[in-house]
Amino acid sequence: MIEVENLVKDFYDGKDKDNKNVIKRAVDGLNLKIGKGEVFGLLGPNGAGKTTTIKMLTMLTAPTEGKIIYDGIPLKGNESKIKRLIGVVPQYINFDQDLRVGENMELHARLHHMGSTERKERIAELLNYVELADTVNENVRSLSGGMKRRLLIARALIHRPKILFMDEPTVALDPQVRRRIWGLIRQMAREGVTVLLTTHYIEEAEELCQRVAIMNKGKLIDIDTPKGFCEKHNKPNLEEVFIHLTGNKIKR
Ligand SMILES: Nc1ncnc2c1ncn2[C@@H]1O[C@H](COP(=O)(O)OP(=O)(O)OP(=O)(O)O)[C@@H](O)[C@H]1O
Ligand SMILES: [Mg+2]
Repeated sequence: MIEVENLVKDFYDGKDKDNKNVIKRAVDGLNLKIGKGEVFGLLGPNGAGKTTTIKMLTMLTAPTEGKIIYDGIPLKGNESKIKRLIGVVPQYINFDQDLRVGENMELHARLHHMGSTERKERIAELLNYVELADTVNENVRSLSGGMKRRLLIARALIHRPKILFMDEPTVALDPQVRRRIWGLIRQMAREGVTVLLTTHYIEEAEELCQRVAIMNKGKLIDIDTPKGFCEKHNKPNLEEVFIHLTGNKIKR
């Protein structure tokens, strides 16, 4: 479903003392293959390159090098076709906070050229799905953090994407809301949606993902099933494997 070959992203990072441009390599030769209907986790400490990878996969930033292929179709040259296939839950909440919940959904449905009957039905269906139907006329600003996260998910699903990217979808949520989002992710996977998610909650990846990739400082360390990682490194859980491989204790 998703193939990534030798993906590289360089950022300009100011000047050095000799006034030469400094280049920071945020993603350094990443290779991945993710199957249809798979829930795949991208793990790594702060600055590992997770968000940059998602931004390249979702066309928010251009790769410096490398290839991205969706279902055998190269991303380059087929952007509008692939945009219809993918949905994105960004790391940072980016609604127009002065619009109402329903208006935000409406805006996105229109951006995807959905007709008025389909828009109405789909918005009602999704707001029910994330249990926000009661808030349709509320300003987004007045929602709690957990409600905003659920609305981000509903918004990303408006055009029935086949692939969903979720960048820290459960950050800072209470355990009950996190579990509700886990339920939504599982339901989407059952419906055949491929999910690529990032998280700092390693037990969340262990619980949800068939396979995970562990990155550090732009480089892929390894890809395996959570069980495969634990067996390979003789650790009781994925969090201990993560700490062992990245030398990083996760901040909570
Ligand atoms: N627009 C940018 N300009 C310059 N450097 C950037 C830019 N965006 C990201 N970086 C750098 O690229 C590296 C990877 O950042 P990225 O946001 O992809 O990490 P991440 O794994 O998502 O981290 P986090 O867990 O903190 O969200 C970091 O060193 C970051 O400072
Ligand atoms: Mg990030």
